[in-house]
Amino acid sequence: MNVMVIGSGGREDVISEAIHRSGKLGSLYAVMKNRNPGIASRCEDFLLAKETDVERVVDYALLKKIDLAVIGPEAPLEKGIVDSLEENGIGTVGPKKIPAKIETDKSWARQLMRDHRIEGSPEFGIFRDLEGVKEFLDDCQEVVVKPSGLTGGKGVKVVGEHLKDKRDAITYIKEVLKRHESVVLEEKLDGEEFTIQAFTDGKDLIPSPAVQDHKRAYEGDKGPNTGGMGSYSDNGDILPFMERRDYDDAVKILKRTLAAIREETGERYKGVLYGQFMLCRDGIKLIEYNARFGDPEAMNTIPILKTDLLNIFKSILDERLNSLKVEHERKATVCKYVVPKGYPEDPKIDTVIKISGRGREAGKGEKSKIFYSSVDERDGKIYTTSSRSLSVVGIADTIEEAEKIAEGELSKIEGEVFSRHDIGKESLIRKRIEHIKRLRG
Ligand code: AMP
Ligand code: GLY
Repeated sequence: MNVMVIGSGGREDVISEAIHRSGKLGSLYAVMKNRNPGIASRCEDFLLAKETDVERVVDYALLKKIDLAVIGPEAPLEKGIVDSLEENGIGTVGPKKIPAKIETDKSWARQLMRDHRIEGSPEFGIFRDLEGVKEFLDDCQEVVVKPSGLTGGKGVKVVGEHLKDKRDAITYIKEVLKRHESVVLEEKLDGEEFTIQAFTDGKDLIPSPAVQDHKRAYEGDKGPNTGGMGSYSDNGDILPFMERRDYDDAVKILKRTLAAIREETGERYKGVLYGQFMLCRDGIKLIEYNARFGDPEAMNTIPILKTDLLNIFKSILDERLNSLKVEHERKATVCKYVVPKGYPEDPKIDTVIKISGRGREAGKGEKSKIFYSSVDERDGKIYTTSSRSLSVVGIADTIEEAEKIAEGELSKIEGEVFSRHDIGKESLIRKRIEHIKRLRG
């Protein structure tokens, strides 16, 4: 089977690694916007092109006689890349343009939850103009402003934090409405966030272990929002601050959403449905959906898959996911991103990163991994771009051990870069547990 991966980040690096291990693989191909050395090393051939250039991607897939394509990022989904590949007879893992609206149109996603009575939305309003905006801002104590369309993770702003006051909020909302059809205003929730990524063929849904990402750039959850600085998972489905019923409630929301998408669009959603949840005083709330694996969260769950990833993808396309047993190893994982100094606001681009010095090696039953992200490989050297550079992952029986392995890997990396060393450390996890204890009483 010839397989093509679209995307060039850490998420696509780990996807390509898992596919490369599969006994079913013929040759691997990729379309990337920068030369990711990890993906490139596994490919028979790759095309350096924009992942949103649907025509070029389809032409390349036809030229290379691709049997199965996997879409990593959200931007090509919004362009209808799945529709085009499938029209050309190429089975593709990822939702078509319309069902992908669950991520690409936040107003549509919230409206779907409202119309189908899916629990888990905070108080919210959808606005196409300024009518009613002031009233919503006055009625809600703390408000989050969300552009309806894609913003690369940088569009969500909290009033009182990123936006000084209500006047600032209205200025931002006006700006958003010039570029987006609508804006969603939501009550700001207090709680702990977690992510569930689920495989689905549009009918059945198989969830992966919960992961917690860290969006803020600096230690102690300070600084600007980023694409995600790192993440951890425990040696089972739930995280240390969760109970089993929290996980089950979140999966229920994903299942009901999947059924609602089918009812609303008449389309089968095939691929990965990602839910970002907040565990609050009164239970689970949904923050947002993504129509793909998370980055970094994919690097927590894919390396511990016991089931062949390509087999899962095939089952999704054949609509027989229910006949497959998808299993994960009972291992904890900690992923930490290495990013250019100044990221995300003023990243130092085009500086060299070296992987050299030796840190603590993974012991028996443990593993360490390095995945490349937005770096460019030129003349045998690895250069930073304006986005996250590479990530290290530790895999062990406990989060504590996995964290130490990740730190060992970090100590091998040299360059004008930084990481969040607090991710996965006991003190931060204890803080999360205490936060939930305080909320739940
Ligand atoms: P999103 O792009 O929707 O993932 O939002 C980015 C970040 O904003 C999330 O990871 C949350 O930390 C935060 N956020 C989004 N919606 C809310 C909300 N209703 N209450 C509190 N925080 C939120
Ligand atoms: N980790 C957040 C995302 O993938 O969007």
